[in-house]
Amino acid sequence: MSQLTNDTFLRALMREPVDYTPVWMMRQAGRYLPEYRATREKAGSFMALCKNPELACEVTLQPLERFPLDAAILFSDILTVPDAMGLGLYFADGEGPHFERPVRTAADVERIAVPDPEGELKYVMDAVSTIRRELKGRVPLIGFSGSPWTLATYMVEGSGSKNFSHIKGMMFDRPDLLHSLLAKTADSVASYLNAQIARGAQATMIFDTWGGSLAPANYREFSLAYMQRVIEGLTRESEGRKVPVILFTKNGGQWLGDMAKTGCDALGVDWTTDLSDARRMVEDRVALQGNLDPCTLYASPERIREEVARVLASYGHGNGHVFNLGHGITPDVNPEHAGAMVAAVHELSRAYHL
Ligand code: CP3
Repeated sequence: MSQLTNDTFLRALMREPVDYTPVWMMRQAGRYLPEYRATREKAGSFMALCKNPELACEVTLQPLERFPLDAAILFSDILTVPDAMGLGLYFADGEGPHFERPVRTAADVERIAVPDPEGELKYVMDAVSTIRRELKGRVPLIGFSGSPWTLATYMVEGSGSKNFSHIKGMMFDRPDLLHSLLAKTADSVASYLNAQIARGAQATMIFDTWGGSLAPANYREFSLAYMQRVIEGLTRESEGRKVPVILFTKNGGQWLGDMAKTGCDALGVDWTTDLSDARRMVEDRVALQGNLDPCTLYASPERIREEVARVLASYGHGNGHVFNLGHGITPDVNPEHAGAMVAAVHELSRAYHL
């Protein structure tokens, strides 16, 4: 496959020297872009868009046409995996994701099978191949999955949740059942990510959106341990190059030190932790990705530039920083403000790499 024209992102993840700090945005292909909304309209629905490799490729590339981003991320969703496990994913308008058949009992857990990524999930793999072809080596492609814990929250709750009553009920009453579900989910995630790597993903990211809802001991036992199991099962080299893995637990700032010991290459950091503290916690074991508060993009381009400068300064000099938002970009952001952020990162970060 083609050589990369811009490999700054991969080099930063490996803590190698770069000329400037690479940048991409979580949810960079999404509703804040009018061209995304038009393609989604054409597809008919969000899931139809995910299941059409040509259109998924089109929306993946849209933010790169607008902004000089240093990475592309596969357009898909974390819930494709439980959908392939037979749970029946659907999106009710304006309500977020739901499952027709949530996992609540021992029999439900027993029924769950590890999906074949080249079977039920072939549409995701075809999207990866199509995107790699159309990227023509411009920037690396990131593959991704949800963490076992985060996928399990949706599988057991049957939708998004405020209190996690069902899954936490299971965790305290039937830890054996939850462990069995998490083990199957971890094996599904590892095989899903390995299939994405085989089809051309050049880095991977594990989204642990809900790990931060757990007490520390429960986080280690029910989220972190299974992310480690995934990492241990991952292909770490492809096309003659290391395939870095990024771990992101939202609201997981206090656990960055433990997360850095899982064998991952980088950690995503949300905006509630200062990058200088994060850097001390991980003791230069891993790179850090983040962490501008996504709401900064509601401010003026001048203020955005000042906040970008503050985040760059909080990481400071040296290698191993990938700039990003601390969580996904929100749908009502003015795209020009995202452009102002990207430009400011590229311009102001050079001083930190002399
Ligand atoms: O970053 C990217 O551009 C890649 C695409 C991506 C999507 N979802 C597209 C999407 C990624 C990486 C995800 C991950 C994802 N999906 C997570 C973990 C990341 C995080 O944000 O913490 C979670 C928890 C989900 C589950 C999910 N999917 C929810 C809760 C929703 C509804 C959100 C809402 O605001 O309605 C989705 C739908 C979804 N996934 C959209 C997009 C662009 C919006 C769909 C649409 O209406 O067009």
